[in-house]
Order: sequence, then C-alpha cells, then structure tokens
Amino acid sequence: MQHNTDILIIGGGAAGLSLALRLANTYHISLISKGILREGSTLYAQGGVAAVLDPKDSIESHVADTLAAGANLCNEEVVRFTVEHSTENIQWLIEQGIEFTRTSNNKDYHLTREGGHSQRRIIHAQDASGRAIETTLEHKVRTHPNIDIYEHHNAIDLITSTKIGKKNSNACLGAYILDRKNSRVNVFHAKHTILATGGASKVYLYTTNPDTSTGDGIAMAWRAGCRVANMEFNQFHPTCLYHSEAKSFLITEAVRGEGGILRLPDGTPFMKKFDKRAELAPRDIVARAIDHEMKRLGTECVYLDISHKPANFVRRMFPTIYERCLEFGIDITKQPIPVVPAAHYTCGGVMTDINGQTDLKQLYAIGETAFTGLHGANRMASNSILECLVFAQSVSKYILEQANDETADITLPLWDESRVTDSDEEVVVTHNWDELRRFMWDYVGIVRTDKRLRRAKSRVNLLLKEIDEYYGNFRVTSDLLELRNLAMVADLIIQSAIDRKESRGLHYTLNHPNLNGQPKNTVLRPMGFIPKT
Ligand code: FAD
Ligand code: SIN
Repeated sequence: MQHNTDILIIGGGAAGLSLALRLANTYHISLISKGILREGSTLYAQGGVAAVLDPKDSIESHVADTLAAGANLCNEEVVRFTVEHSTENIQWLIEQGIEFTRTSNNKDYHLTREGGHSQRRIIHAQDASGRAIETTLEHKVRTHPNIDIYEHHNAIDLITSTKIGKKNSNACLGAYILDRKNSRVNVFHAKHTILATGGASKVYLYTTNPDTSTGDGIAMAWRAGCRVANMEFNQFHPTCLYHSEAKSFLITEAVRGEGGILRLPDGTPFMKKFDKRAELAPRDIVARAIDHEMKRLGTECVYLDISHKPANFVRRMFPTIYERCLEFGIDITKQPIPVVPAAHYTCGGVMTDINGQTDLKQLYAIGETAFTGLHGANRMASNSILECLVFAQSVSKYILEQANDETADITLPLWDESRVTDSDEEVVVTHNWDELRRFMWDYVGIVRTDKRLRRAKSRVNLLLKEIDEYYGNFRVTSDLLELRNLAMVADLIIQSAIDRKESRGLHYTLNHPNLNGQPKNTVLRPMGFIPKT
C-alpha cells in the first residue's frame, strides 16, 4: 500500500515532535515511531536544556564553553547559531505548556549547572526534564488534526530517485515502513522526509539509552548515499547507576552540579587529581578518570555522594533519582550512589547544513541522528535537546520558505518479498546482537588501541556478511532491521576511530595519545557518493 503525505517525520522524540508542531498548520504530517510515540531518549532526559537565560550569562560564554568542551572541533558558526536561538526555543517550550522548576521564591526559573558550563544555565523540570518535554509535546501532536501518527512502525530504508532508476541528481522520495502489527511493509511517499531517529548508543553493551537507540536513521541515510561524520566520538556518561537489577538508569550530572562528589570505595575524592574543575570537568574527562580509577583498583564501580547536602534539598531537586535508588535499597540522602560510565550519546551522524539538509534533496536529519558540527569531539551537557529544538526550527523555516508546489503523483515500487521466507533461525539475530555489543564495549570503548580497533574491524566484517545473507533470504522483522543498522553503524564507528590518529575529546587511544596539529572532522563517503547539485 502507498501513503502520500507532505512531510514524513521518522522519530517522535524532542526533534521529531517539535518539527511536526512547527509544520502542522501548513502541511499534512505523517509521524512514525517504532514503538509507542514517547519511547526514545528524550523521555529519559534528566538534567534539562542549556540556554542563555540568566542576565549574568551571555551568548559569548555559552559559545566559549561549548567550543572548549568540543576540544577545538566544533563548527563555531553552528555553535553560535544554536546558542543565539536558545532563548526563543525555551520560550517556545514554555508556550507549549512545559512547566519548568522555579526558584524557591517562585519569581524566576531555577537554573542548574553541569559539566563544562561556567555558569548556571540549565533550565529543568526537577530531574525529569525529558518526561515533561516529551509528554507535553506528545499531547499537542496527538490532538493536532493535520498529524497522522503511526506507532509500532519501523522505517526500513529510504526510497531515492536513483534507486528507482531516475538518473538526475539524487533525491529522497519517501521510505519503506514496516507495520509491526501485521508485518506488512508499506510505501510512504513524501515531499520532504526527515530523519529524527535519535542516536546509536545501543551499539554498546552498557548504555543509558532506551532500546530505540539503534542508529537506524544514520544507517538508512548512509545506504541512501549520504555522508556521515565524526562517528568515533561516542560519549560515555560518567554516572549510570551500578546495580544488578537497574537497567540503564542515569544519575544526572546535575547531582555533581549541585555539589555531588565522586569518591573511591574507601571514600577518597579523586577528581581533582585529573582536572582542576574536578566533578564539573567535561564528560570525556570525568568518564576517563572513573575508568582509570576502576581499572587501577580493580573495582566494579565508584561512588557519587550528595549525602552531605540537606535531605530536603536532595529530595526536592532529585525526586526521580531518590525514589528509584530507594527501590534498590539506596537512600541517597544518607549513602553514596554506586556508579559506572555507560554509552550515552552519539556526537557524529548524518552530515547536515544549518537547515538540516543532507546530501540528498528533500531529505533532512535533526536531533541526535544529525551531525551539524555543534558538538565537536565532545558534546557539552544539555546541549542536545537544545540542538533538537533549534534545528527543528531551522528545518521548518527552510521547508516553509520552499514553494509549496504539488509533487507529481508518482507510484513508487512496492516492497518486494518474492524471494524471502520466514526465518527458521531467529537465534542468529539475538546471538549476533549480543556479540556485536560486547566487542564494541571491549574494543571500541572509553580507551582504544590500534590493535583493539583492528580486532573489532575484523569481527564486524564477518557479522556484516552474515547479516547481509540473512537479510537477503528472510522476511524482515524489527529485530533483524535493528541488528542490520547497529552492525552498519558499528562499522562506521570503527572505521572513523581507525582513521583518527590522535586523541581528542571522546576519542582516546593509547597508540596516539596526543593531539594532531590541525583539527579535522572524520568524514566518510558511501560508495558511489553523488555530490548534491
Ligand atoms: P529520541 O528522543 O531518541 O527519539 C528517537 C525516535 O525515533 C523515537 O521515537 C524512536 O521510536 C524513533 N525511531 C528510531 N528509529 C526508528 C525507525 N527505524 N523507525 C521509526 N521510528 C524510529 N540531553 C540534554 O540535552 N539534556 C539532558 O538532560 C539529557 N539527559 C539525558 C538522559 C538520558 C538517560 C539519555 C539517554 C539522554 C539524555 N540526553 C540529554 C540526550 C538527549 O535526551 C537526546 O540526545 C535527545 O533527546 C534525542 O532526541 P531525538 O529526538 O533526536 O531522539
Ligand atoms: C544528565 O542529566 O546528566 C544528562 C544531560 C545530558 O546528557 O545532556
């Protein structure tokens, strides 16, 4: 079956929802999410959104902090563009109905602080900022008459003009989408297609991310002929709760912003040894310091301690973390929290310009899927949701400025299932999924070496071959699609890490411990890459 729509948005996080709301008064939108609409990283964001909101703060200061955290690899023009649009985007969120935490006198919004920020500039909704943003925008999207929502639908691949045999320059015409409820693959034809599918941190065994973060948008764009950049910069969040029954529970950096201290098992603070900013150094430095101390002492975790602060303050600022830790028998007002680093954020992604345009006409990427140049070699805390909002705004502006001419009604080729059967060996998928995530953690983690990367490369090559054969023979399932995308993204990460012969920001390798003179992005081009004309 073919659906025709003006705008196809793949992804229902902060990026996808805010873009849908900005375009829906003019265009018909089809909004796709592979699970329920709200399930994605945005829902779990804790700290908040960085923006210039305090009269004592300035655009210059936010720009300077972002550039410093990004280890000299950010695109300054993009950083400035993002920060300059920060205040109006927070205002937009407030207009949508999001209730951010206020100061105790109720006069102003309370601003917290996180690593790399020289000022208090993170607006937040207690310690569940993402939930407040996601659920408020979700409600607006669900009640908008121009937005059709397709939950439990997996985008499989983009449909491009070259793939259907048109010779002139490559444009995106829509996507093939699997309806998970009846296992049918439908065609969505759109004037503009937007990838807002989030990051790829599920490529690692331990992650703060939900199951949706399998790099689908990055893999789809790559297969369709787009360049990707800086995939070696995988951010590891320093403080994920360490408990055998807690899956991926983050302890926000705001705990350190409000005075939390990192301690060794014997109670000794250690961050000052690594950086004069101690607990508030950028994330790459804190995660590496923890990794170093854990390996040096052979311990399974370190501890984050906020118990010296008044119990009322801790419960008021961090109610979600307080309750969650209590479920595991940890009273954070009295005890330190066991923590470990875990994969958290994909700094690289599909290359876009300031309007979110990719290498394909009519295809855009926004949010964690995109590489805009904002984060450089290390994203500064709470700049991610800001990027989702600012780039949703700039894509919407760009699309609204285009002439709204009718696209000729083309019938796109239907999904061809004539040569596949149902799989009789689903175990191959689960086995490969586990293997991939484990070797990525072991060989392409916080500390890398040439030898580990070579090992990872030979393993991923084997997996890619096996997955390719399997994909060619069996009917697609959601698990198979995710595995195929994860393996492809793992390959892009490994290839980029091999190409970078220096240690910069989040990419740290024992074989090349120093910086190279000239900072350079790692840009990968797919085979047969056609530059946009
Ligand atoms: P997501 O919110 O991840 O949404 C992706 C969407 O795409 C989902 O709806 C998913 O179903 C859909 N999707 C994916 N693949 C497909 C497919 N093939 N077909 C159909 N749909 C698909 N950043 C901050 O700035 N501040 C914070 O405080 C903060 N805290 C964080 C805490 C946690 C625990 C985590 C995990 C991240 C945090 N981050 C934070 C990072 C930030 O939350 C994310 O980078 C951001 O929310 C990503 O938004 P997004 O819209 O790009 O993607
Ligand atoms: C956190 O709250 O520590 C996460 C913030 C972020 O990832 O930007």
